[in-house]
Amino acid sequence: MHLFLDTANLTHIRHGVELGVVTGVTTNPSLVSKEGKREYKALVKEICALVPGPVSTEVLSLESSGMVAEAHEIVTWAENITVKIPATLEGLRATAILAKENVPVNMTLCFSLNQAILGAEAGATFISPFVGRLDDVGEDGMKLVIDIVDYLSYYGCSTQVIAASIRHTAHCLSAAKAGAHIATIPYVVLLQMIEHPLTDTGVRRFTDDWQKGMGDACILPRK
Ligand code: E4P
Repeated sequence: MHLFLDTANLTHIRHGVELGVVTGVTTNPSLVSKEGKREYKALVKEICALVPGPVSTEVLSLESSGMVAEAHEIVTWAENITVKIPATLEGLRATAILAKENVPVNMTLCFSLNQAILGAEAGATFISPFVGRLDDVGEDGMKLVIDIVDYLSYYGCSTQVIAASIRHTAHCLSAAKAGAHIATIPYVVLLQMIEHPLTDTGVRRFTDDWQKGMGDACILPRK
């Protein structure tokens, strides 16, 4: 499963990419707003320059014609842009138009298998089921990821699933087990994924044992 960062924060994105594990980014209007008032285009261009893979950039219009016009503008900002379109009726229409033009679309705010089926049929490159937000209203968000992955694989669709609205590391694990192609995760979850108390204990013990047995012997030649 590939990992994208769900943020518009340049420092976090830079770090995730440097770690060699973040291959894409998803943004949304809320995440962009958190970065303070700055020009949308300039911020997205900076993100795209940092990231090797797709950067999902959301449209703001609510009507399909506006979404398509915004998408046409957004894709000129960088080569690795994916246009994020909500799973509404207007969004579906825009997705179909853009897909025919080979514009990659991430159908976002997906909360049902029905929406995912329509998105895949319309030619979306990615579908983003929002796991955490479904959990918040007492539903099983990960069950939706499982259902969409199964559906796409059964019918041999090329659309990829981005498990979104990830809240904790257990969500990541479940998304991987469900066969999600990608999980888009907050920076804090990325940092939590590498943590394990037994790893820390193990490193401490190896270091202590080495010092006891080998003193200050080291691997690199001394300068
Ligand atoms: C996905 O592309 C969205 O940006 C994101 O995962 C939304 O998550 P939230 O429910 O934490 O806002």
